[in-house]
Amino acid sequence: MQNQFKTIESSRVRLRAFQSYDLDNFVHYRANPDVARYQSWENFTREQGVKFIEEMTKASFNSPGVYYQIAIESKETNELIGDCVMHPLKDDPTQVEIGFTLDPQFQGKGYAYEAVKRLVHSLFTDLSKHRITAITDVKNEPSIKLLERLGMRREGHFHQNIWFKGEWGSEYLYAILAEEWTRE
Ligand SMILES: CC(C)(COP(=O)(O)OP(=O)(O)OC[C@H]1O[C@@H](n2cnc3c(N)ncnc32)[C@H](O)[C@@H]1OP(=O)(O)O)[C@@H](O)C(=O)NCCC(=O)NCCS
Repeated sequence: MQNQFKTIESSRVRLRAFQSYDLDNFVHYRANPDVARYQSWENFTREQGVKFIEEMTKASFNSPGVYYQIAIESKETNELIGDCVMHPLKDDPTQVEIGFTLDPQFQGKGYAYEAVKRLVHSLFTDLSKHRITAITDVKNEPSIKLLERLGMRREGHFHQNIWFKGEWGSEYLYAILAEEWTRE
């Protein structure tokens, strides 16, 4: 049986499994070129959205090698405002890679920080993970700011390591250990 993601929340957001009713909001923000700029997709379509949600409702949470996307919902409106991903490494699932995306309407308000902080806390305290990492384009300033605000350490700077959307891109690797995580 697949592992289910158990809903968690903080003051303004709820993190929960994706549902079919998330489709419209999800496609709306994923199709936005500003959201896609440093992400793997471009011109995200409704068909891709349907496939994504179908895959996520079947996906197994906290399984080695599986990228599991978690919906971020506003507690005020109960609507999808973004998502985050957790990926336990295939060969060592105590190490987890994370990522995040927020609908631009809700950016600049601390929602992403609140959601990702809650996720990281749960990964360390509920799931006893050892290390959390994130990779970001060196030009993605909001993402870099968020990772540093979480207290994550820049451990790597890869120079032109990825051929990305028609040009060479450079990336930073950020990480934090369970023993370094002191948040409540
Ligand atoms: C990366 C991303 C999620 C960051 O979103 P964000 O809203 O800027 O991030 P935060 O939640 O940390 O919000 C921080 C901003 O909210 C402001 N803010 C307002 N109220 C706040 C509050 N109560 N608490 C914290 N910050 C608050 C902060 O001052 C900060 O503003 P600034 O950017 O002007 O300094 C967003 O830019 C995004 O989705 N980008 C596209 C997808 C992407 O590239 N993802 C990363 C791939 S690695």
